[in-house]
Amino acid sequence: MLDGKKTLFSGMQATGNLTLGNYLGALKNWVTLNEEYQCFFSVVDMHSITVRQDPAELRKRARQLLMIYIAAGLDPEKNCIYYQSHVSGHAELSWILSCFTYMGELNRMTQFKDKAAKHADNINAGLFTYPVLMAADILLYQADVVPVGNDQRQHLELTRDIAIRFNNIYGDVFTIPEAYYGKHAARIMSLQDPSKKMSKSDENPNGSIYLLDDPDTIMRKFKRAVTDSGKEIIYSEDKPGIRNLLDIYASMTGCSVEDAVKEFDGKGYGDFKMAVGEAVVEGLRPLQERYVQLSKDKAYIDQIIKENSEKAGYFASKTLRKVQKKVGFPVKVR
Ligand code: TRP
Repeated sequence: MLDGKKTLFSGMQATGNLTLGNYLGALKNWVTLNEEYQCFFSVVDMHSITVRQDPAELRKRARQLLMIYIAAGLDPEKNCIYYQSHVSGHAELSWILSCFTYMGELNRMTQFKDKAAKHADNINAGLFTYPVLMAADILLYQADVVPVGNDQRQHLELTRDIAIRFNNIYGDVFTIPEAYYGKHAARIMSLQDPSKKMSKSDENPNGSIYLLDDPDTIMRKFKRAVTDSGKEIIYSEDKPGIRNLLDIYASMTGCSVEDAVKEFDGKGYGDFKMAVGEAVVEGLRPLQERYVQLSKDKAYIDQIIKENSEKAGYFASKTLRKVQKKVGFPVKVR
């Protein structure tokens, strides 16, 4: 409990461009969380190097992501928005926790298996211990809740197991985090293949709307979006393309899917796609405008980065010191 509020932690990787899926599924819903929680939103650049990155590109994208957090409406005065690599406690706690995590547990992680298959030429130890670093992220801030997508559920379960194991040995050191289920967040699918999630790592850029795409690009991608056979606009399992567009429209404008279906009753697919495209252009406009402003204000962003990493560092070192003492490291003379 900080300031009488529970603590919430989440992070995103700075690899690839954030998509409309990341926005509607996560970021957009994070904006009001600080009313109820003390929020930490990290740009998890340390996780990114588990696969090879171009250094200049990683640095650029990390800063972009941090600015997108702010442009999306996360107030950096009320949310701690910072780079994971600026708080050394993440690495330090990660080492300690790795000594409380079993090989067998990490071997079972489906994301490791997937990534190992995808990067067969670089199955490094960091890729294997990735979930331990994620556990360190969460436990370092004594987070009560963690908003995560389905793909991260297993990692959160492991985090809980590690924390419980540690507490059983040393007493109440860590808060046991829970998954945060907000109000129903849309699961946005690829515009080119609605059976696949819209993903920042999709090779086909037409399948994804990137948050910084200009209006013409957004409209063009919606024009090309695959639809289904037939011509009715209904919300149905066997019309995955239309259903995805309805989901996008509803979560972008804040209306219900039922209202969206009513609104487009009798319209053709072409008009419908254009209307969804326009809703997305309009919905992203404030974010894009703020982003442009922020990117011109280097000093302001630098200041946020400095202040928030100090703030994160303060909370991190409190936990870290406690943990170091528990496991038997000599106490530093101050
Ligand atoms: N692994 C997460 C992802 O790829 C990102 C992440 C890192 C994270 N540390 C976290 C998410 C802590 C929630 C909490 O999506």
